Amino acid sequence: MTSWRIRPASRADTQAIVALEAEAFGGASWGAKAVADGLVERNVRVIVASTDDAVTPVGFAFWRNAGDEAEILSIGVARRMQRRGCARALLGEIISAARGSGVRSLFLEVDVANAAAAILYQSLGFEKVGRRKRYYRNGGDALVMRLIL
Ligand SMILES: CC(C)(COP(=O)(O)OP(=O)(O)OC[C@H]1O[C@@H](n2cnc3c(N)ncnc32)[C@H](O)[C@@H]1OP(=O)(O)O)[C@@H](O)C(=O)NCCC(=O)NCCS
Repeated sequence: MTSWRIRPASRADTQAIVALEAEAFGGASWGAKAVADGLVERNVRVIVASTDDAVTPVGFAFWRNAGDEAEILSIGVARRMQRRGCARALLGEIISAARGSGVRSLFLEVDVANAAAAILYQSLGFEKVGRRKRYYRNGGDALVMRLIL
């Protein structure tokens, strides 16, 4: 089993996160500028995951904390490293940090067509609480999911 090292992203990780985000999201990518802006935005926290024997991140997550609610903004894992528990480790870190900051509800949006991500979130206890019509650029709907902490 892969053992994951999760840490806060630093400025030095910018290029790696930009590349990972582009790889993970393809045509639905935020793009380099939005990723770089997210890294320095107040209230947005960014964490990265690497394997024990490497420093370069292979997974990332952006999340935002606002009082007793928090939201996962983006999460992605390099294709070659998927299905090894990386996203689960990143989400576990967010859940425990959110709990520690007094967050009661953790939200996210996921494309209705993204079965892999929805299965992952459900396995962690997230429940579907709503649907946003034509939320994505490609016209796809988003499911709103919530985890009560
Ligand atoms: C979704 C994503 C982040 C999952 O990352 P990951 O590191 O591969 O996920 P994990 O290995 O932690 O998977 C945990 C569980 O999620 C579910 N899961 C993950 N990928 C899956 C897939 N392709 N098909 C079915 N279930 C999947 C499984 O239940 C898995 O547990 P298992 O491997 O023991 O069966 C990754 O596929 C990705 O980067 N996708 C592109 C970007 C994206 O869609 N991000 C989410 C936007 S809301």
